[in-house]
Amino acid sequence: MWRLMGHKWEERSFYSYRPVRPSDLEILERIHGDIFPIRYESEFFQNVVHGRGIVSWAAVDHSRDDGRSDELIGFVTARVVLAKDSEIVDLLNYNSADTEWSLVYILTLGVIDSYRNLGIASSLILEVIKYASSIPTCQAVYLHVISYNIPAMHLYKKMSFKCIRKLPGFYLIDGQHYDSYLFVYFVKGCRSPCSPLKLLMVVMRYIRIGFQSITAKLWNDERKVGRWSRCKEAHSLI
Ligand code: ACO
Repeated sequence: MWRLMGHKWEERSFYSYRPVRPSDLEILERIHGDIFPIRYESEFFQNVVHGRGIVSWAAVDHSRDDGRSDELIGFVTARVVLAKDSEIVDLLNYNSADTEWSLVYILTLGVIDSYRNLGIASSLILEVIKYASSIPTCQAVYLHVISYNIPAMHLYKKMSFKCIRKLPGFYLIDGQHYDSYLFVYFVKGCRSPCSPLKLLMVVMRYIRIGFQSITAKLWNDERKVGRWSRCKEAHSLI
């Protein structure tokens, strides 16, 4: 971002990202109250600031000279969940015989009005993606967005999240139901079953099975007619 420093315009990043701390409690609650239509329990905020089952990043503007350079201007909160217990288990390369796969679920993301469109939410999402990528068992980051939140949907699409499904009436706010969209970002090359890589693997598997059954048929025919005995060895190598 460009800012006038003395007589010169300089491009610098004025924002830094750190975990949310207990001293952020009041402002964290205030911003959530200001920007979300849903009310969160005070237990949620306690869990965020104390890192109890929730990971979080705060954005601060360290160029502020009003003594508030460590004050939250944005945040993201997330939780690690078991893939097998999640609603997107059907989308994963999930094999129950394998490791306990996990996912990172974004709970809340917000930036205060005066700091929007400066790339802060994008940076916060990148922090979450980096964190998810550092967990060996993590397959994806996912979240829900209320259907009328166009800026958030643009943002997630820009960050390469895929809109996977629509959940009719998912949210109940002031007695009214609202649809939600489910967005997923697959980490470390994990893909949904419909990805090109997965499709290629499926095609390869069918080709191999087809090839094996042709070979088996030839082998049976060979046994029937009692010839081409050397093919037997070749078959065992396929
Ligand atoms: N209209 C359309 N797209 C927008 C808008 C807008 N008014 N504002 C941001 N975007 C999208 C665009 O794709 C934009 O990309 P571009 O700059 O290349 O055009 C991108 O967001 C910019 O991203 P950032 O600057 O990183 O986003 P920002 O810091 O402004 O924060 C956010 C975006 C978090 C959605 C902010 O507007 C906000 O706090 N809104 C209220 C709370 C909210 O909706 N949170 C997300 C709910 S979903 C959840 O919490 C899981």
